[in-house]
Amino acid sequence: MITEVARAKLNLALHIRARRPDGYHELETLFAFVADGDRLTLSAAEADSFEIVGPFAVALAGESDNLVLRALGAFRRRYGVDAPLAIRLDKRLPVASGIGGGSADAAAALRALARHFDRAFDTPDMLQCGLELGSDVPACLLSRTVRGSGRGETLVPLDGPAGMPVLLVHPGTALSTAAVFAGWRGIDHGPLPDGSVLEVAQRGRNDLQPPAQTLAPVIGECLDLMQRQDGAVLTRMSGSGATCFSLYETAAARNTAAAAIAAARPDWWLLETELV
Ligand code: C5P
Repeated sequence: MITEVARAKLNLALHIRARRPDGYHELETLFAFVADGDRLTLSAAEADSFEIVGPFAVALAGESDNLVLRALGAFRRRYGVDAPLAIRLDKRLPVASGIGGGSADAAAALRALARHFDRAFDTPDMLQCGLELGSDVPACLLSRTVRGSGRGETLVPLDGPAGMPVLLVHPGTALSTAAVFAGWRGIDHGPLPDGSVLEVAQRGRNDLQPPAQTLAPVIGECLDLMQRQDGAVLTRMSGSGATCFSLYETAAARNTAAAAIAAARPDWWLLETELV
């Protein structure tokens, strides 16, 4: 049996440069990944099966075009393999929340399939296979700190602050990525700055934060509460939201902030983790 962690993705910064004729947006983003995520297992079987378990499984119940199954179909067509497989997805992270979710699950499925069929997962061909499933899937395949441009698929690996403590907070609202992108006002505020990963993150922005906050004002409350805690070197919304993150210099500062936020908003989802 093969197990892959579908690590949660963060956009430490996300700058939108233009709306494209094909409906996508030209962007520059700094992807980073955390230690925790959904878990996908894959094994040879008599017949195909797919099971979703875990705390957020119900959010996906009844979905016929799950990205994991689309990844399986894409891999089989591309590489001409059809041996039956049992796949199980342990859905531990909230869905439609700006931290990868379906893209990370699809990427974990592709990595597991590559291992099962003795292929490399980080080839141009596999990255293209991932891109056909979603703009963030190539970055999620690599699951390391990487600068992305284009739709998010032109990737340059970077040395990131591995081990840096992170707090994720999701204030309970699912947002449609397409709806948040559609709310971008069309004004280019400039490229990602230069510098170390942390400098780029701190001097950068998330251009999807204003339209996401218009759709879900609770994101503003979430950012305010996170910014009122001591010790964060950066607090921002990830992707199209609504998950927000803070980076900390020490695990103690992160844990203190998490306890205070959990006490103030017991209904919000929190994850104490670290960058990989
Ligand atoms: O690529 P993916 O299917 O994950 O994107 C979901 C939606 O997010 C797209 O249909 C599009 O509306 C929006 N998007 C975008 N520009 C990008 C990436 C995603 O407009 N670079």
